[in-house]
Amino acid sequence: MTDVEYRYVARSGQVPEGVVRRFFVDGGEAGEVEIALARSEGVVHAMSNYCTHLDCLLSSGRVTEDGLLCSCHGSVFDYADGEPITPPATRPVQVYPVKEEDGRVLVAVPPGARPPGPRRRRHQGVG
Ligand code: FES
Repeated sequence: MTDVEYRYVARSGQVPEGVVRRFFVDGGEAGEVEIALARSEGVVHAMSNYCTHLDCLLSSGRVTEDGLLCSCHGSVFDYADGEPITPPATRPVQVYPVKEEDGRVLVAVPPGARPPGPRRRRHQGVG
């Protein structure tokens, strides 16, 4: 079994109860990975920041007791496995292992766990 390396992402105070925010984690060979950190019922969860429906940012969504809600069309993603609990999304978002130690939030990006990222934005130039 491959060891996953946990990397520092944020101070615990940056992710208070009921809040979701965007952060970046060094994914090693996978490069930098954009994630949404959300705290629900005291536990911090990490997911890809891109909704699998139409790439809206999950960090702009809302923490619910069932999962992370995408504010664009209302899909809710289970914190544990990233599965969509409600439509329109049909595919899970990538979730990442999280630990909290000494007031620090640490996230691991297992090899091969890099999400596809923003499909359309990647091909659209700005300006
Ligand atoms: S983009 Fe997230 S539900 Fe549509």
